[in-house]
Amino acid sequence: MSQGVYISKRVAVVTVTVTALALLSVIAMVIYHRVRTEECPPSLLPTVVTPASVPTKPLANIWLPGNLVPESYRIYLQTPLHTRDIGVHNQNLNFSGNSTVKFLCVEATDRIVIHSRDLSVTVKGVRDGHGRAVPVKGFQQQNDTDTIQIELSDTLRVGRMYYLTTEFEGVYHNSSGMFMRGYKENGTEERYVVASHMEPTDARRVFPCFDEPAMKAVFTVTIIHRKGTIALSNMAQKDQVEKEIDGEAWLITEFYPTVKMSTYLIAFVVSNFEYKETNYGRYTLKTWARPEAIAGGFVNYAHSIAGDIIDFFEDYCGIEYPLNKIDQIAVPKLKVGGMENWGLIVYEEETFLYDARLSTTLHKELLASVVAHELAHQWFGNLVTMSWWNEVWLKEGFSTFLSYLALDKVEPTWNTKDLIVVHEIQGMLHLDSEDVFHPLSLGEEDIQSVSDITDLYGSIVYNKGAAVLRMLADLLSMSVFEKGVQSYLKAFQYKTAYSEDLWIHFQKAVNDSGGHIAVAEIMTTWTDQSGYPVVTINTKSGEVSQKHFLLHQESEYNLTWQVPIKLMKSGSGDIKFDLLTVLGPVSKPLYRADANEWILANINQTGYYRVNYDPENWEKLLQQLETDYRKIPVITRGQLIDDAFSLARAKHVNITLALRTTKYLLNDTEYIPWSSALTNLQYVVSMFDRSEVYGPVKAYLRKLIGPLYDHFESVTMNSTIPDSHSAQYTHNYAVKFACASDLPKCRKMAISLFDRWRKDPTTNPIHTNLKLTVYCSAIAAGGEEEWDFAWEMFQKARVMLEKHWLRLALACTKDVWILNRYLEYSLDTDKISSEDCVSTINAVAKNVVGQPLAWNFVRSRWSDISQKSQETISQDELIEGVTERFSTTFELEQLWMFHEEHLNDLSVSGKRALTDALERTQKNIKWVTENKRTVLEWFRREVSQESNS
Ligand SMILES: *[C@@H]1O[C@H](CO)[C@@H](O)[C@H](O)[C@H]1NC(C)=O
Ligand SMILES: *[C@@H]1O[C@H](CO)[C@@H](O)[C@H](O)[C@H]1NC(C)=O
Ligand SMILES: *[C@@H]1O[C@H](CO)[C@@H](O)[C@H](O)[C@H]1NC(C)=O
Ligand SMILES: *[C@@H]1O[C@H](CO)[C@@H](O)[C@H](O)[C@H]1NC(C)=O
Ligand SMILES: *[C@@H]1O[C@H](CO)[C@@H](O)[C@H](O)[C@H]1NC(C)=O
Ligand SMILES: [Zn+2]
Repeated sequence: MSQGVYISKRVAVVTVTVTALALLSVIAMVIYHRVRTEECPPSLLPTVVTPASVPTKPLANIWLPGNLVPESYRIYLQTPLHTRDIGVHNQNLNFSGNSTVKFLCVEATDRIVIHSRDLSVTVKGVRDGHGRAVPVKGFQQQNDTDTIQIELSDTLRVGRMYYLTTEFEGVYHNSSGMFMRGYKENGTEERYVVASHMEPTDARRVFPCFDEPAMKAVFTVTIIHRKGTIALSNMAQKDQVEKEIDGEAWLITEFYPTVKMSTYLIAFVVSNFEYKETNYGRYTLKTWARPEAIAGGFVNYAHSIAGDIIDFFEDYCGIEYPLNKIDQIAVPKLKVGGMENWGLIVYEEETFLYDARLSTTLHKELLASVVAHELAHQWFGNLVTMSWWNEVWLKEGFSTFLSYLALDKVEPTWNTKDLIVVHEIQGMLHLDSEDVFHPLSLGEEDIQSVSDITDLYGSIVYNKGAAVLRMLADLLSMSVFEKGVQSYLKAFQYKTAYSEDLWIHFQKAVNDSGGHIAVAEIMTTWTDQSGYPVVTINTKSGEVSQKHFLLHQESEYNLTWQVPIKLMKSGSGDIKFDLLTVLGPVSKPLYRADANEWILANINQTGYYRVNYDPENWEKLLQQLETDYRKIPVITRGQLIDDAFSLARAKHVNITLALRTTKYLLNDTEYIPWSSALTNLQYVVSMFDRSEVYGPVKAYLRKLIGPLYDHFESVTMNSTIPDSHSAQYTHNYAVKFACASDLPKCRKMAISLFDRWRKDPTTNPIHTNLKLTVYCSAIAAGGEEEWDFAWEMFQKARVMLEKHWLRLALACTKDVWILNRYLEYSLDTDKISSEDCVSTINAVAKNVVGQPLAWNFVRSRWSDISQKSQETISQDELIEGVTERFSTTFELEQLWMFHEEHLNDLSVSGKRALTDALERTQKNIKWVTENKRTVLEWFRREVSQESNS
């Protein structure tokens, strides 16, 4: 699946624009979901977080005994929801059904243990293969293991097939198992849709089943639903009959049996949606959405790329898509970006619907990458499944990595193969050095509870998984990598695999191509250990060494990786390769440079690590950037900046070195280096934007961004965008940062465009890519009138994104009284919907003027806030948002007080966020104390040079 996070992280890049400052894109560390670590009591001392692999408490064994193996299920599911008209209070929010599972006994037992949770279950009987009943003594629900245990009078015999029939009733949940969503057709008529989301362990909340990924079976599904509604499941419809039940009209829709698959991939949807259809011969693609979205053409883009993406994967995997249909459906307010259910992919509606006139470049790429990600899963996850959840990275890493390759084929001008570095990898490197997180592969024994499973779905399995596979693909070459993938998929289709299996198949591909790379030996150092190394090269002595890289602490262990290193020397297009397998330092001629020669390692950031050099080499690299930056590949320019800032935070190099890597950007207009620079400068800004350092920082940003702004000025003034995909991002940055750092012509442009809109609200002259920036700048520069106009437009807006941008931009005003009033609105559900409450308060907190107001508001209104449903008010996002830039001891004290007062009324995730906030604030204080002087002096010097020249 695609995480909700997966969306928010990317969307955040555009949406986080609230104050002038916050127009800067958000620092990756903050956008990423924190990966769960052991909960430590907050302490003023730097905390060492123990790896998550240390078991905490004895928990019930969450594994099924494994003595019974399912072969097939026959499922009837009746869902009485009306999709139209009758209103939520008149709806029956239950479902019911029966299921017969056929299973093989592989170990004699007189007890059947099967998953079930939140269901009321009746055991109708157990039969053997001849139809003879096996008497049931009794059964009971075990809540700690999510199972029912059925005691039998006879022992089940090894090698025999049995049938268990159950009847069950369940209720709709908020967002998993079976759930319901309401929406308004054409903005007026109430409509409902029923959908399911099983991953990872919620199939057991819909019907009793052997709910483990390795317990694959064939599922034959029948859905009984209201006449006038449409039922979908994984497979194509086989049969449909109309039937009157208790005087009401129903449809009984039967689907073909599935292929052999895991329970977490089962899906059911009942709706009155419409679809767009294309027949590709072997399979039919249908893309479903609410009727008005189909009529408006909002699914056209997603529909148009899906076939080509499937084509790509069939080719890449060497295996045809095995079903004869695939449905994509847009469901409102799904909690994740998408879910790859075999043959019936469910997407979050806001991500999935696209209109060229109303959506941004970023949205289009996000949508395409979610579609590619879910389609990749049809092979990686659906066809070949990880044996157990500890290796969920196998499917998520592959789908994330390969989605970029698929997009490169579907949208060749986007250059997505390069974009993966800034969109997935650099932020991951940052997060993975913030603390000691869990490694990619955990031991099976590390997963002790269902919440351990759900906690795994962080950026580690997605982004680090992708980064490590990208490294391997580069090491082996794309063609050998592809052969390995094909042989792995062929060997394990309709089965499950471990990462060792993957290495074996890559090894086979390497051997077949005459190579000598020991795949497993190299890869397990990356999958089984936490974090990653920094490689340090001394170009004078030729010494090279590695060390676990952590921003805030020394690693306690001498972790060693097998590090593939591609390097180049100045003046030579020759790429040299080395595999560093020891801690070092070791000396090799390869790493030695002549007096006027520089060395650059980890070309194109294909390796998942950072690189540090001796000061002279850094100087030569800076010199090269200044004189002719094109000699350094574009990805590597961004990488140099990102590495330098991280190394500075870990105190491996001076902060001024990092700042100096940004100076050459006066000349560069490429997206990747700008993205790396602005992401890193954002941290500097957010730490200093309330101090005297900010003046010179802002002046420096103006100076840096000026030429980039000019580069795009005519495009901006014409309300158009550049042709190239990545230039569209750079353009966006140019305007965002120019306005954020108060470049006069940017502000003028924003005000004049906004005024034109105000004079004629029927025609908005602002290009969608720039709307948020322009709204925000104009509202920040304006007063009550501008605000009131935007508020009116917000209330009238029908397009979700438009509403979203206006809501965030409204937080940009500098007027304290308006901000306070807006904070009050955020709790008033007539004005701002409760799902948007947190992001509205956080938007105010992004505004440097709004920061203290938002924090005071949260503290004084905590009792109101904490009483709201945790489904809509995410306490962790709120706490993270309002404390993000805390960096003074005064703020730390206030946080402690909040901690004392509210520890008992915080949710679990709220507590965790507060602990994180305390730690983060301490780190920020330390960083500010250590760097303030140097940073201030550096920026002053840079800016005074500007005025001198
Ligand atoms: C399951 O329910 C369906 C529909 O109500 C019914 O036709 C079928 O006989 C039931 N199966 C069993 C085994 O009870
Ligand atoms: C299991 O949980 C349900 C609902 O949460 C509760 O009604 C039931 O009593 C529990 N059963 C046991 C055996 O604890
Ligand atoms: C919504 O609009 C569509 C297209 O304009 C129309 O066909 C449909 O009947 C409308 N639905 C309602 C409930 O008004
Ligand atoms: C790490 O290596 C250093 C130097 O070889 C050694 O002194 C130290 O004991 C090692 N630490 C661990 C935890 O093995
Ligand atoms: C680095 O990436 C660029 C594309 O940005 C590519 O043209 C170049 O060949 C790559 N270099 C190496 C050594 O892989
Ligand atoms: Zn996924």
